Amino acid sequence: MASFNVLMLPGDGIGPEVMAEVGKVVDFLDKQGVARFETETDLVGGACYDAHKVSITDAAMARAQAADAVLFGAVGGPKWDAVPYDARPEAGLLRLRKDLGLFANLRPAICYPALADASSLKREVVEGLDIVIVRELTGGVYFGEPKEIVTLENGEKRGVDTQVYTTHEIERIGRVAFELARKRRNKVTSSEKRNVMKSGVLWNQVTSALHKAEFGDVELEHQLADALAMQLVRWPKQFDVIVTDNLFGDILSDIAAMLTGSLGMLPSASLGAEDPATGKRKALYEPVHGSAPDIAGKGLANPIAMIGSFAMSLRYSFGLLEAADLVETAIANVLAQGLRTKDIAAAGQNAVGTGEMGAAIVKEMQALAR
Ligand code: NAD
Ligand code: IPM
Ligand code: MN
Repeated sequence: MASFNVLMLPGDGIGPEVMAEVGKVVDFLDKQGVARFETETDLVGGACYDAHKVSITDAAMARAQAADAVLFGAVGGPKWDAVPYDARPEAGLLRLRKDLGLFANLRPAICYPALADASSLKREVVEGLDIVIVRELTGGVYFGEPKEIVTLENGEKRGVDTQVYTTHEIERIGRVAFELARKRRNKVTSSEKRNVMKSGVLWNQVTSALHKAEFGDVELEHQLADALAMQLVRWPKQFDVIVTDNLFGDILSDIAAMLTGSLGMLPSASLGAEDPATGKRKALYEPVHGSAPDIAGKGLANPIAMIGSFAMSLRYSFGLLEAADLVETAIANVLAQGLRTKDIAAAGQNAVGTGEMGAAIVKEMQALAR
């Protein structure tokens, strides 16, 4: 039986609550004999800061480097607002992405038929939606240098962040988007702001050249990022794959989340380059949402984004496509049966807690596997 090393980093706030539900799914697949999952758990974010005064330890980084996949909950919260910038909870996540080389962040947004009324948009706008945002994850303004606050001669301060992209960085994320589109509805929308940014001009040129050279069979269109934000809420079903930079991808994926009903629904996969020798790639799977301090500790969090992220690991890291389908079908069925956490429940509708939703998904997997 195939055996996989999985590092779980639950983090802060609702992170540990939603990770516990993934634990139930892992146990079930283990018992079913689908694969053997050797799981380890470590600290990240504020929880790690409290113990070690850093947001991730070198030892945890080494475990992440060695793992077949990392499962990440969420980090951050008001408790750590005042910690030094380099030790803030979010820095642990950024270090994981950068040091593991996870340049490609796939953020699928699917509106399940049963949830079409949970979105703040009209049913006909979102029903049947199935798009993927391909977000560049290790470049752009998140990592560009200089990044600093400097004091000027007149005593004023200046905060600086730098947006940088190279041809190589744009090409490799573009390739991920085109290849993904080929397996879907064959359309890529590339988004930047070439009207005001040099990096946007380059992004546009490199994406067009790559399209011409290698992906002429895929439809390519370009939309400025502000206009795309508007189109996402006007008529999102015009999109298939959207490829964009680190910052625009962050913002656009939170918008996309609300098309599906809740931020608690959006999974993601953060992937590195394939090692030509082994065919393996470094990968981390994380929900798009954060630590949700407003509901943390109350058992209210929707675990579907986290469980869906684990399903993506079954598909992209472990090659367990049937198991991935099983998890995703169980999620769809449970929603179709009317089970709702509070974030996706209609006004006045009964809602279940995090643990009940996780247990119901596992029970449905059991029924489907029979
Ligand atoms: P958030 O995503 O934590 O929460 C935004 C809103 O969505 C809140 O009202 C929250 O209750 C709700 N929500 C989020 N996930 C949910 C779920 N699974 N079920 C039900 N409701 C859910 O964003 P925020 O409040 O802006 O950020 C809080 C902290 O999380 C900050 O410190 C931020 O930096 C951090 N953050 C971390 C990650 C990550 O770890 N990947 C991602 C985003 C934000
Ligand atoms: C996300 C988050 C992170 C980001 C933060 C927590 C660093 O918002 O994964 O969407 O900005 O990338
Ligand atoms: Mn975000």
